[in-house]
Amino acid sequence: MSADPTSQSNYLQIVSEHIDFNWTIDFSKKIVSGSATHTLKVLQSSVKEVIFDTAALDISKVEVDGQTTTFKLGTAHPVMGSALFIALPSIPTVGSHVKVTTFYKTTESCTALQWLDKEQTQGGKFPYLFSQCQPIYMRTLAPAQDTPSVKTTYTAKVSSVLPALMSAVRVAPPQDGPSHDGKVIGKDVVTYTYDQPVPIPSYLIAIAAGNVVHRPFPSIEGKSWTSGVWAEPELIDAAYWEFCEDTARFLATEETIVPPYRFKVYDVLVLPPSFPYGGMENACLTFLTPTLLAGDRSLVDVVVHELTHSWFGNGVTHANATHFWLNEGFTTYMERVLQEKLHSPAARGFSYVLGAKGLKDALKLYEDRPKYQRLIINFEKGEDPDDAYSEVPYEKGANFLLHLERKLGGLEVFLPYIYDYVNTFTGTSITTEQWKTHLYSYFKAHGGEDKIKALDSVDWNAWFYGEGTELPVKMEYDTSLAESAYELAARWDKSRHTAASKLDFKEADIDSFNANQKVVFLQTLETYPPLPSSHIEVLDKIYHLSKITNAEIRLRFYEVALQDPSSAAAKAYAPQALDWVVGEDGTGIVKGRMKFCRPVFLAAGKVDKRLAVKIFEAHKTAFHPIAQKLIEKDLNSV
Ligand code: BES
Ligand code: ZN
Repeated sequence: MSADPTSQSNYLQIVSEHIDFNWTIDFSKKIVSGSATHTLKVLQSSVKEVIFDTAALDISKVEVDGQTTTFKLGTAHPVMGSALFIALPSIPTVGSHVKVTTFYKTTESCTALQWLDKEQTQGGKFPYLFSQCQPIYMRTLAPAQDTPSVKTTYTAKVSSVLPALMSAVRVAPPQDGPSHDGKVIGKDVVTYTYDQPVPIPSYLIAIAAGNVVHRPFPSIEGKSWTSGVWAEPELIDAAYWEFCEDTARFLATEETIVPPYRFKVYDVLVLPPSFPYGGMENACLTFLTPTLLAGDRSLVDVVVHELTHSWFGNGVTHANATHFWLNEGFTTYMERVLQEKLHSPAARGFSYVLGAKGLKDALKLYEDRPKYQRLIINFEKGEDPDDAYSEVPYEKGANFLLHLERKLGGLEVFLPYIYDYVNTFTGTSITTEQWKTHLYSYFKAHGGEDKIKALDSVDWNAWFYGEGTELPVKMEYDTSLAESAYELAARWDKSRHTAASKLDFKEADIDSFNANQKVVFLQTLETYPPLPSSHIEVLDKIYHLSKITNAEIRLRFYEVALQDPSSAAAKAYAPQALDWVVGEDGTGIVKGRMKFCRPVFLAAGKVDKRLAVKIFEAHKTAFHPIAQKLIEKDLNSV
């Protein structure tokens, strides 16, 4: 019925082309209620029903072409949810259109949505709501064909007492008018209207509502798109400063490599700290974790990554979870090409160095599930893609493309190919096979025999299906920006037999390091056997690592400190690391980004499982439902 291992919908028989949402947000009941009207095109003869994916929705009524009809909910699958079967009154002809409206309410168990009490926001005055639909949670926001193989346009009317944002172009009220249309924020209902005229996969549908304001970035001459930032008023200055230099500049640079940006608006929204990802490339409106506001623009690479998805993912889309690397591998590869274009070849090499440790860790973590070490993961029907989520598709994918680039003759040859790839597949959803077929045909036409010979010498099987903790090819990078960090780490390693009181290190060792070089220093340290606990104490004291606010650095320090779960250092730092992620460190700010909270709970769980579980249970609701689910799984595994 469905070629997508994570969907029960019958999109190969009848496919959704447009969705019209009509929603009311009720912050006091924590419910979104209303309707979703799909316009579907009939693809096959003798289609008797429409099957949507749903999960945890309270569905009250279904209409087909305006007539109330019967519907049936299948038993809930733990991952895929309940299929919604809607009988068609008559068998439609191939090519005709059917309109199906579902009336429903969300429930407490809708994984896509996190409802925050006012205390959990920056301003502390208004509640907040935001969604996260990737990979398979759109079905908890509305009945849908929840597969990236289906792309729809959408329109929405959202009634809310707080400004409501969606992954679309705002139609009304005007964005440059008064906030909340001049009405009383938190009290008066305003109906927000949105239009997404570009067909997008369901996982890019998104909503956020809260006390947020907008500030445009300086516009770039000759561009028809606009770009700006949304945040709570308390954070808007910091958010604007962090991203105003780079966002539009990187977007414009990307346009020199690939076809023009298609979504008219590229805004970023800085979310409350429980947002479970670093960034999420929702169409027109990238969602960002507030931990990017480091005050030194050192984490803008996340924005570069998300805006790059505008082509790789939002334009050319993976057909289903099995081919997820096409989204993330390409995006990571291109993000680093932009680093080279706007900064230097050394900056590109440095990004690969930064990523290599994460790849190693991810491959190690999956040693008991080697299937998830693969680039192409053949998911069983109903297998949870979140179980396979790791840096493997990002880093293995980016390295694979770098390997191909080098085989084929470097950037000069490879970037025109990338343009052709985007141009050929934008608007569609593809498999790895389709990607590879196009790659061969492009290079047959551009270069012929030699290029085909180069392609034939690639070990496709090893890259696609290889397992283990190494890449199929040993990759060389420009490591010039990493050398001083390597050297300092080696010096610490060599000092392990020196008494802690005699160690010859000083604060100035890292004075010249930028934030990412500090990360590389700590990551490198972690590749050596654990340092004695007394050394870790000195390390912290000299460089103030357990006080640093940059979360990327702080995380790496705790990883070093907790490396040997039975050590005195691990016992000393585990409670502190846990306090840091749950916001009991005096900041009250939870580290909801899973990149930070999951490794800390996991590492601390290995040191003291009872404590980790206790602290998690006490702060569970501060985390997004997706993070709750995954931290729970992690803690059960230790
Ligand atoms: N699309 C992803 C986030 C995602 C992937 C959410 C799969 C749910 C399922 C986003 O583009 C991403 O990769 N975010 C990274 C950013 C980083 C690689 C720069 C993150 O959140 O860490
Ligand atoms: Zn991504």
